Amino acid sequence: MKIVIFILLTVVQFSHEFSVMPGIIHGNETTIQKHPWIVSIQFLGKHFCGGSIISNDTIVTAAHCVTELLVKSYRVVAGITNLNDSASSTKYSVKSFLIHSQYDLEIPRDYDIAILKLSSQLVFSDKVQPIALPSKREMVPEGATVISSGWGVTEMHSDIASDILRDVDLKIINNEICLRKVKEAVTKRMICATGGRTGKDTCEFDSGGPLEYNGTLVGIVSWGRGCGIKNMPGVYTSVARLRPWIDTHAVTQAIISALD
Ligand SMILES: *[C@@H]1O[C@H](CO)[C@@H](O)[C@H](O)[C@H]1NC(C)=O
Ligand SMILES: *[C@@H]1O[C@H](CO)[C@@H](O)[C@H](O)[C@H]1NC(C)=O
Ligand SMILES: *[C@@H]1O[C@H](CO)[C@@H](O)[C@H](O)[C@H]1NC(C)=O
Ligand SMILES: *[C@@H]1O[C@H](CO)[C@@H](O)[C@H](O)[C@H]1NC(C)=O
Repeated sequence: MKIVIFILLTVVQFSHEFSVMPGIIHGNETTIQKHPWIVSIQFLGKHFCGGSIISNDTIVTAAHCVTELLVKSYRVVAGITNLNDSASSTKYSVKSFLIHSQYDLEIPRDYDIAILKLSSQLVFSDKVQPIALPSKREMVPEGATVISSGWGVTEMHSDIASDILRDVDLKIINNEICLRKVKEAVTKRMICATGGRTGKDTCEFDSGGPLEYNGTLVGIVSWGRGCGIKNMPGVYTSVARLRPWIDTHAVTQAIISALD
């Protein structure tokens, strides 16, 4: 009984935290073949965060998606477009994980990155592929079009994840403009992307998922002030800035060492 209550409390904490996290709003239905690196991270059979495959046993996600006490019960599902297909898919458990040691330490949601090592290897196909990482100096130019994807909610006040994978195109804006809009610290470990007046955005349950530019993983869905609000950017973990950390902690992986 105690255990059940404990788990429930933790799940409530999740939802609370996620209420400030940016789902795909005003995006398009898409297919896993277009984003074969995205995975669904699930707890008790429910999708709650996205992640990106960087090698056949390594997933990059947001630190705020990983709760130490529960990660042993997480299941990672790759290669699906429709979350309803999870039941018939291979579910991978997590062998080990690492949350950035400076996550949330001084500045809220700074260093929002974590690595999950899977207990068995993914088999690559047209639906399951790793994504390349940018080098640490490769910054996405302002105004560049980037694409995020996920099974997040499609309306701000909904709490139901989308069954079908969706994607959305956004534009990079500089951190100073971003800070003036979100009115909270936007550090060098963060990049911002906006749908401008369209209100395109990522939202609850998209957290941890990819922000892609020219086929590389430039960002991780991290946080925002509400979601889908016109001219309000979403904030993403900068993968370029944290590339050295990824290299140090996932060194055995060919996809990573092959890139530098
Ligand atoms: C996974 O990657 C490792 C290292 O590149 C390789 O040795 C192994 O054969 C791969 N496994 C599968 C199932 O492809
Ligand atoms: C997923 O399953 C639920 C429950 O059976 C159903 O209501 C929903 O329409 C399904 N969604 C899709 C996209 O197949
Ligand atoms: C979504 O669809 C619209 C309209 O067809 C298109 O302009 C946009 O580029 C699409 N977005 C993505 C991410 O493919
Ligand atoms: C996009 O990636 C390709 C190789 O993957 C590279 O040759 C090209 O320069 C990149 N374009 C930009 C605008 O970064």
